[in-house]
Amino acid sequence: MADWWDADGRRHRKQFSNAAAAREHEHRETALAHAERASREMKLAARTGGGKRSQSKPETGTMELAKGKLGVMIPGMGAVATTFVAGVEAIRKGLAKPIGSLTQMGTVRLGKRTDGRSPKVKEFVPLAGLDDLVFTGWDIFEDNMFEAASNAGVLDYRLLEQLKPFLSSITPRAAVFDHNYVKKIDGPNVKKGKSKMDLAEQLRDDIRDFKKSSGASRLITMWCGSTESYIEPTEAHQSLKAFEKALRENDEMIAPSMIYAYASLMEGVPFANGAPNLTVDLPVMLELSRKNEAPICGKDFKTGQTLMKTVLAPAFKARLLGLAGWYSTNILGNRDGEVLDDPGSFKTKEESKLGVLEHILQPGLYPELYGNIFHKVRINYYPPRGDNKEGWDNIDIFGWLGYPMQIKVDFLCRDSILAAPIVLDLVLFLDLAQRCSELKGLGIQEWLSFYFKSPMTVPGLYPEHDLFIQLMKLKNTLRHLKGEELITHLGLEYYD
Ligand SMILES: NC(=O)c1ccc[n+]([C@@H]2O[C@H](COP(=O)([O-])OP(=O)(O)OC[C@H]3O[C@@H](n4cnc5c(N)ncnc54)[C@H](O)[C@@H]3O)[C@@H](O)[C@H]2O)c1
Repeated sequence: MADWWDADGRRHRKQFSNAAAAREHEHRETALAHAERASREMKLAARTGGGKRSQSKPETGTMELAKGKLGVMIPGMGAVATTFVAGVEAIRKGLAKPIGSLTQMGTVRLGKRTDGRSPKVKEFVPLAGLDDLVFTGWDIFEDNMFEAASNAGVLDYRLLEQLKPFLSSITPRAAVFDHNYVKKIDGPNVKKGKSKMDLAEQLRDDIRDFKKSSGASRLITMWCGSTESYIEPTEAHQSLKAFEKALRENDEMIAPSMIYAYASLMEGVPFANGAPNLTVDLPVMLELSRKNEAPICGKDFKTGQTLMKTVLAPAFKARLLGLAGWYSTNILGNRDGEVLDDPGSFKTKEESKLGVLEHILQPGLYPELYGNIFHKVRINYYPPRGDNKEGWDNIDIFGWLGYPMQIKVDFLCRDSILAAPIVLDLVLFLDLAQRCSELKGLGIQEWLSFYFKSPMTVPGLYPEHDLFIQLMKLKNTLRHLKGEELITHLGLEYYD
């Protein structure tokens, strides 16, 4: 007997010959359910939409306005965090543009293609403004944000000089850190405590202190800390009761990032996870998130190579081109690269990067095309490159009658330049989620999958990795919240 989950995330039991057969059955059932649902929606849209102007429905649930300041708390004030905070300040000062940010530059089409309604996302839903953001952070190093940004070497020194007074004023709070979970670094700015529960209490004090001193009306925690060693969920992660007991007993399966997550959620503060660590991807965190109406999302920002993968793989599947192998390798020389040079941290990253292809290509549904893929991901620490990563992909595909072809991608990217707008959007959208009656009690915010390599879903539900499905999910969620028609791209009504 084995378990399989249907398209609505319900668990079923059935006799299968092996695990692969169970997964294939699950893929088939899910695809059938989605096809049936899509066909019902198409029939409905065709019956109701013909020739008429689209009608707005009342907003779904309530959506509070973004009043007051939004406090952004960042464990890990390294390259990504400083590029994000410096960028927000540069944009506020009119020195630069928020390129790459959906909340700042994106639009959302409403109604029919002929309606001409495409407001900016930030005008469509009530997001916090950039002027309302205030920041704090934790790090094991004592550098303030100006020093940390200078060390990271991502942004031009002339730009940083113009932001110096602001960035220098953000100094790191002492971190909850344990060298055993991030082997390649160590630093002096670390909290001491009798137990992991004691450390969690200290973080909760920090959170309350920041809320008071900054005058923020709402808070968000955004993990931009290093990638921790690979951990599998254990009994300690299954419920709040078990987790609190484990905190008191210093259970080694509780990594520092989980202590930040616990402290935030206990304080009712939403938590986003930019690294591939489990952190909030655990039953205990889902329980706490739902209980305290503090939304969660993760894991691992989708920036360079995986972004490309989740664009190209859907194209192969759409055209039913087969895939024999995908070899991905990177060189990068920032501190993140150094941390990932440790096998424990690399394993966490590798897990996050590897799942993408299987979920997009669904080998269970298309065994002749995707049943035998050789997929490899390497990350090589190469200091001369700093944050300017180079990601190579060699992709072996096959077409009509099985004839082989190759595609090579060489992405000379800037890691933190790609990550910073993701951080901004997540901050603003998670804050929105907490102000929406319909979203705040859900726990995992699957509509934010667009931003992650390894999107979180409720247990048993496979994640959507295709970038364009993720974008549609995100925009349809916004339309749904505002009572606008969802866009199905059917389009028969234009030909009535
Ligand atoms: N840059 C990208 O494109 C990208 C993409 C996906 C994921 N990520 C992830 O985002 C995270 C940040 O990346 P980065 O390039 O800024 O790395 P970084 O090494 O520059 O910064 C991480 C910072 O976290 C600090 N830190 C580590 N453990 C901590 C703890 N327990 N508490 C407080 N601070 C702690 C480190 O001292 C360091 O300053 C990494 O986990 C990385 O894997 C980055």
